[in-house]
Amino acid sequence: MASGQMVGQAFDLNGKVAVVTGAGSGLGRSSAEILADAGCAVICADVDRESAEATAAVIGAAGGTAAGVAADVADQTVHGHLVELAKSFGGLDVWVNSAGVMAEDKVLDLAESDLDRLIAVNLKGTLFGCQAAGRQMAASGGGSIVNMSSAAMLVPSPRVAAYAMTKGAVVQLTRIMALEVGKLGVRVNAIAPGFVPTKMTSRYYLRPDGTEDEAMKAAVLEPMAKFAPLKRVGEPADIGFAVLYLASPASSYVTGQILSPNGGMAMH
Ligand SMILES: NC(=O)c1ccc[n+]([C@@H]2O[C@H](COP(=O)([O-])OP(=O)(O)OC[C@H]3O[C@@H](n4cnc5c(N)ncnc54)[C@H](O)[C@@H]3O)[C@@H](O)[C@H]2O)c1
Repeated sequence: MASGQMVGQAFDLNGKVAVVTGAGSGLGRSSAEILADAGCAVICADVDRESAEATAAVIGAAGGTAAGVAADVADQTVHGHLVELAKSFGGLDVWVNSAGVMAEDKVLDLAESDLDRLIAVNLKGTLFGCQAAGRQMAASGGGSIVNMSSAAMLVPSPRVAAYAMTKGAVVQLTRIMALEVGKLGVRVNAIAPGFVPTKMTSRYYLRPDGTEDEAMKAAVLEPMAKFAPLKRVGEPADIGFAVLYLASPASSYVTGQILSPNGGMAMH
């Protein structure tokens, strides 16, 4: 085999179709762009239609195939529509559940409304995506589902109990589903990223007018970077490449696993 051919094939997604939720920003956006770069047609879904369309436009401008659609993952019915849209592009091979939201409060102050919102999006949204994707993939002979957990499921940090609870639940959902659907050719894995500056994490350094305070940003990111053995925070592409690995034939013997691109800040 010619040099590079075996590796090229292992990561080749030409002719494949992916759905990425939360594709309008951050890790979902990077995942969508990297999957498209590997040859995949990508349905970019986000509750924010404009941002989903913007990601699809970037992919299209780079020569890839993508569609941007509005989809609230907390609404169980949208997942079936996303499956149908994927089928209109040729099938469903990859599903990435990246849509997620955060709330911060100490346990003693945690509002039920925040808990309900995080459960609806982070947990039920991921479950509904797994169900719709899993049914279609089981019927069509297989596929790969990638769920976005978080290092927060492993490292107890103050004020993020509701978020960490949902991300811990995503881990067990991933493992149990992997157990149930492996014989149907469906692989289910999760990624537990460390700290990656995105819209979600920018709340730590936003001014009241919504713009980023650079000094505050540096003050937040520097200790985060120091804490990690690799001495930096993550880039969205660090997570996008982990998604590519789990989506591609390179990981065909991998299921029920939690991959942790986190600079070594947590080890398990
Ligand atoms: N950035 C980090 O440091 C980090 C670390 C660990 C895990 N994560 C997880 O990675 C995922 C992506 O986070 P991010 O940092 O890219 O955040 P982000 O805020 O940049 O992107 C999240 C996207 O999800 C979309 N979204 C929110 N609610 C939705 C809904 N109900 N339906 C559909 N889309 C919805 C948002 O509009 C946004 O475009 C999340 O699940 C998050 O919990 C992020």
